[in-house]
Amino acid sequence: MRIVILPTAEQAATHVAELIARQVQDRPRSVLGLATGGTMEPVYAGLIARHRAGLSFAGVTTFNLDEYVGLGPDHPQSYSHYMRVHLFDHVDIPEANRFVPSGLGAPAHAAQAFEAEIARRGPVDLQLLGLGGNGHIGFNEPGSSLGSRTREKLLSFDTIEANRRFFDTGETVPETAVTMGIGTIREARRIIVLATGARKAAAVRAMAEGPVTAMCPGSILQMHEHVRLVVDTEAAAELALKDHYLRAEQLQSRRDANGPG
Ligand code: F6R
Repeated sequence: MRIVILPTAEQAATHVAELIARQVQDRPRSVLGLATGGTMEPVYAGLIARHRAGLSFAGVTTFNLDEYVGLGPDHPQSYSHYMRVHLFDHVDIPEANRFVPSGLGAPAHAAQAFEAEIARRGPVDLQLLGLGGNGHIGFNEPGSSLGSRTREKLLSFDTIEANRRFFDTGETVPETAVTMGIGTIREARRIIVLATGARKAAAVRAMAEGPVTAMCPGSILQMHEHVRLVVDTEAAAELALKDHYLRAEQLQSRRDANGPG
């Protein structure tokens, strides 16, 4: 796992937007895996800015990680709605190429349809992930099978509490979501995890340096060949080998500056 520690959350998000933009530039027909949540908002703002400066997403296909069960695409708290507001309404990804699991109808059916679509159009070239304070990726909560496929999952109390801030006071936060499985996520060619803020520090340490365990679903990424974890100083605070990761990145930058050969 490559671990990139940047001074601020803003710089971390800018770095991730840059990596996604480079992927699309190099491979205009890329399949991107996308996440929602507060951490991703500045990443999508960065992609919109790059689109306005000329980057086209017209050949891109996207798969979002998850959707709340019971919320239709027009519900303001649905992840379909989030994606339109924060990205889709501002860039040129064709509507027919955007896939978010359906929150309506039978969850098992939504999950199956979503897996079939990934099988048809995948694999995902670049998967973007956030990290829950409890170590979840997608809505694969602690205890999730590390080989799971897309399915309905019960959200933990921690997650329901963390996400309550997005809902109106008195509004019920859905208890379940359809989420890409951990086995599905692991099939992406490259994965970028973005985590910022002190609230994520313990989860960052557990995922990068702890044992590989279902108690911290993100820890399975230690087994993936191409993962880049991008964190700000606050989220990196509990990493035992922080200085080593910083040195490794300094070495990499010197090599990048010297160019090939
Ligand atoms: C969102 C998702 C979640 C979030 C995670 C962090 O699609 O799958 O795993 O990435 O809960 O959320 P924020 O960024 O709001 O802290």
